Amino acid sequence: MEERIQKILSRAGIASRREAERMITAGRVTVNGTPVTELGAKADPERDRITVDGRPVAVEEKRVYILLNKPVGYVTTMKDPEGRPIVTDLLKGVGVRVFPVGRLDYNTEGLLLLTNDGAWANRLAHPRHEVDKEYLVRVRGTVAKEQINRIALGVELDDGKTAPARVAVTKQSDNNTWISITIHEGRYRQVRRMCEAVSLSVVRLRRVRYGSLFLGELKVGEFRYLTPAEVKALDEPRPRRPR
Ligand code: URA
Repeated sequence: MEERIQKILSRAGIASRREAERMITAGRVTVNGTPVTELGAKADPERDRITVDGRPVAVEEKRVYILLNKPVGYVTTMKDPEGRPIVTDLLKGVGVRVFPVGRLDYNTEGLLLLTNDGAWANRLAHPRHEVDKEYLVRVRGTVAKEQINRIALGVELDDGKTAPARVAVTKQSDNNTWISITIHEGRYRQVRRMCEAVSLSVVRLRRVRYGSLFLGELKVGEFRYLTPAEVKALDEPRPRRPR
């Protein structure tokens, strides 16, 4: 992301913004080998090579961790060939490029993490980490005990049997049943496919928890930054579950 050069230099701890401006006007700064003396000039610290007095400037990008309440109708890829809205469109003012940790379907809503910390994202997404993900699912009609039990024990999908899940009915109306399903795998459309496998028709799917993080009161389409303690807690491997 392009920024004014004095801002980049001050973030890198080289000088205050004022001092950096003086360095620029004195011709001490180059971008990709060319001296830059204009105060309005911009550069991208990730792409451009910036030097002061011939020495390269190393800029550590600030690590950002975000919890978004994803609305239905957004994709979690960084580009969409069909031109549909992208989750990062919702992150006004974040100022750094972040990407989603895992994915949620276009029609699924709820808790989505985004970050620019690739190593952290990879650790969380690794199957060994076994982060619990809890979904609230509204299905059509009533649900039989046997359907709940089958999901809980694991159902056969075309990419193999699912691991045991925690499943509970949380609410029942005349036309719909709400169930909570907690899984630690992260296969493509997994919850929808688990429900389809036992002939349940999903009306609404919302992720409400990711490990120790809950969606809480965050409104649909809104986001918040994680605290350092939340970032660290997620990184801790979960205790081994009994098999
Ligand atoms: N399971 C699904 O079916 N969809 C999601 O987006 C997440 C989990």
